[in-house]
Amino acid sequence: MLLLGDRPVRTDSAYRKDRDTVTIAKPLLLAFLAAGAALPASAAPGATGDAAKGKLVFARCAMCHDVKPGAVKMGPPLNGLFGRTSGAVAGFAYSPAMQKAKIRWDAKTLDAFLTKPSGLVPGNRMAFAGVPAAADRANLIAYLAGATK
Ligand code: HEC
Repeated sequence: MLLLGDRPVRTDSAYRKDRDTVTIAKPLLLAFLAAGAALPASAAPGATGDAAKGKLVFARCAMCHDVKPGAVKMGPPLNGLFGRTSGAVAGFAYSPAMQKAKIRWDAKTLDAFLTKPSGLVPGNRMAFAGVPAAADRANLIAYLAGATK
């Protein structure tokens, strides 16, 4: 017996709805915001972003960075980033520029760096032009605040 009419239809478009579905993940966002409250006050501006959306922005960084401890890719691991001084991961071959910059990473300095890496740290080796949209940066920093802990 053939039931051709009942064949389930695979909707590939459902996979492209990620952007819509993340806005529903409010409990997750609230969890990140609650986690953000434990950060130093200087990190607070990042908490205004949407961490779930920021995770999608992090796709632009993921080929070079991991948020897990010790995971060295082309760039240094971002685990423990907030409160850390620039160029401080032992064993990673930073540029002299990044080591000399001695920036304390928090929401404010990350926002400046990610706007235009070569602007804040001229001569650094991060081959990345920047994240031009302020909202994308705020979301990304909110994501990093939770994920790099
Ligand atoms: C093409 C690879 C590449 C991409 C893409 C990239 N980075 Fe980097 N990143 C690097 C490298 C290499 C360094 C070290 C730069 C240096 O030593 O001058 C770095 C350094 C950094 C630092 C300083 C870390 C420290 O320990 O001081 C931060 C923060 C950072 N990147 C964040 C990001 C974020 C967030 C993104 C995505 C928006 C991103 N990077 C995209 C390669 C990359």
